Amino acid sequence: MTRDTAQPRPPAPGTGRAVPVLAVAALLVVAAALAFRARGPAGAPGPASPPAPSNLYVVVSGDTHGWITPCGCTANQSGGLLRRATYLADLRKTGEVIYLDAGGAPAGTSPYQRVKFEAILAGERRMGIAVHNVGGPEAALGADYLRDLQKKGTVQLVSANVRDAAGNPLVMPTLTVIHTAGLRVAVTGVLSPKFAAAGLRVDEPRASVLAAVAPRRGDYDALVVLAYLPEGELESFAASLPEADAVVGGPTGQAMAPRRTGPGLLAAATNKGKFLVELTAPKRDGDRGGAGGAGGASAAWSGRIVEAGPSLADEAGQVENLKQYLATLADRDFSAIETGLVAPLPPGAPPDYRVAGSASCLACHKDGGATWEHSKHAHGLETLKGKGFHVDPSCLQCHTTGYGLPGGFDSVRRSAAALGGVGCENCHGPSRAHVADPKVKTPFAARDQCARCHDPENSPAFAYDQYWQRIRHANDVRSGRAAPAPGALAAEAKSID
Ligand code: HEC
Ligand code: HEC
Ligand code: HEC
Ligand code: HEC
Repeated sequence: MTRDTAQPRPPAPGTGRAVPVLAVAALLVVAAALAFRARGPAGAPGPASPPAPSNLYVVVSGDTHGWITPCGCTANQSGGLLRRATYLADLRKTGEVIYLDAGGAPAGTSPYQRVKFEAILAGERRMGIAVHNVGGPEAALGADYLRDLQKKGTVQLVSANVRDAAGNPLVMPTLTVIHTAGLRVAVTGVLSPKFAAAGLRVDEPRASVLAAVAPRRGDYDALVVLAYLPEGELESFAASLPEADAVVGGPTGQAMAPRRTGPGLLAAATNKGKFLVELTAPKRDGDRGGAGGAGGASAAWSGRIVEAGPSLADEAGQVENLKQYLATLADRDFSAIETGLVAPLPPGAPPDYRVAGSASCLACHKDGGATWEHSKHAHGLETLKGKGFHVDPSCLQCHTTGYGLPGGFDSVRRSAAALGGVGCENCHGPSRAHVADPKVKTPFAARDQCARCHDPENSPAFAYDQYWQRIRHANDVRSGRAAPAPGALAAEAKSID
């Protein structure tokens, strides 16, 4: 479908973003009023001085994917709500800010992930978010849950194309108009039909946006569409929607700096919320006195990508929000099964496929045990405690022994302290059968396990050869040394050189 020229709001290239002349006059009055308020009566401009234009920014986050804060496993990680809030607060010193989210905040649907999602939403509320688009991970949580959050005021969702099983819009209204800095900015959102979840229908995005804006035409000066669409779909969607001043999406492989696709802008905020899209409304004073009124290049939106990097300080309100989140986790004490972080055991796993705990290994493996006891692996849980994150299953999954495996670490209150830290069996596999009879081999190929935890996010410098040198140990079992073991087993213990 091409542009509908019958539309009352004319989207002719270059003028689609035009603000009618009368509206510009009205805006200038508002801008002047704002300037007056800001400066106070003493600094009020005389009739001859031009009114100071007030900047208007639209900031969009997206694809937060549970990344409420960087884990701190390595230096210089970006993202997190604590920095996002500082950036927004700084920007608000220079103009009005409309803060939006393109969706993708949850990292799953488990009870644990819901708690985290709600904490992210609470953080967004503290940042004064206007609306949050229904992304794929949100949709996966189901209509009832999302509507419940909306009713409780936990979130103000927006979506033009997600419907419930009965065909009713998932959330109302399907379009929100935000009045600020003298401009009326309409915001709506779409989801890729690829992310249709059980009990939800997802309509064609472009037609849905047009249907959402139709009854509101004339009520707004600019249209921003939040679009949770994979990259290719996002690009063709933006190109097919000249009615929008900006389409901001995610998740895309990488953040997309704002670029023109026809009259509007296309950008994407992505990657665990590390990169935010900042859009700047056209300066309305550029139109002042222009013979032809508004229009032309001066009326175009512009923008950039902002990285929520380590140079941004932690904002106090978000620090508080994070504390509340951790307190909730301490209280809930989720067991591994409630987190969705652990893959179920393969069917037919033998009953003795169980974690025995590192202490049981030390009885026979003395030298290797000593190396391990002095490594950071053994103290992985203390590292989390130091930061208050020992209650967060996301962290526990890599910082404890056999997280979620039979006999392995389950939760702070349920599990023995000895299962804290990365133990022998994180690399060698649940080895109760081996403890009972050392002739039974340990189940894992140890050197293949490192990358499960030492991934590019958590351990960007990981290189097996260097890292192995720092924890290297060998088969130190000598028949003499295996004395503490049950006699029968000790007799079988032999030296492996
Ligand atoms: C995917 C596995 C994984 C997850 C999830 C994980 N960590 Fe880590 N963490 C690691 C690894 C691997 C290292 C060691 C990195 C290295 O030295 O290269 C590490 C190291 C650390 C360190 C030590 C950094 C230092 O400078 O010594 C801290 C602190 C830490 N993690 C905190 C956390 C917190 C908090 C969370 C949860 C929010 C978390 N981790 C989640 C794997 C993980
Ligand atoms: C279950 C997750 C996990 C696995 C598997 C894992 N690590 Fe680690 N590793 C960690 C964590 C977590 C830390 C950081 C511990 C801390 O600082 O509290 C770490 C830290 C390290 C360190 C720094 C330790 C020190 O004492 O300086 C080295 C070296 C290391 N890992 C090597 C390896 C190698 C080699 C493998 C594979 C053979 C491996 N790790 C497998 C989670 C893991
Ligand atoms: C971070 C991962 C990791 C941890 C933790 C770990 N190991 Fe290992 N272990 C390895 C790797 C890797 C090898 C070398 C295996 C290879 O070369 O294939 C190894 C080798 C061994 C060997 C010699 C195996 C052979 O076939 O020669 C023994 C025995 C052993 N580990 C016991 C232990 C014990 C006991 C603990 C705990 C006290 C422990 N390991 C902790 C990764 C680990
Ligand atoms: C009762 C003494 C004893 C205990 C307890 C014990 N081992 Fe062993 N382990 C041995 C002996 C003996 C061998 C050599 C077996 C052989 O060569 O057949 C061995 C070999 C190994 C090897 C190399 C061969 C293989 O199975 O891959 C690894 C790895 C290993 N042990 C890890 C562990 C871990 C991890 C634990 C604790 C969960 C543990 N062991 C507990 C006695 C013990």
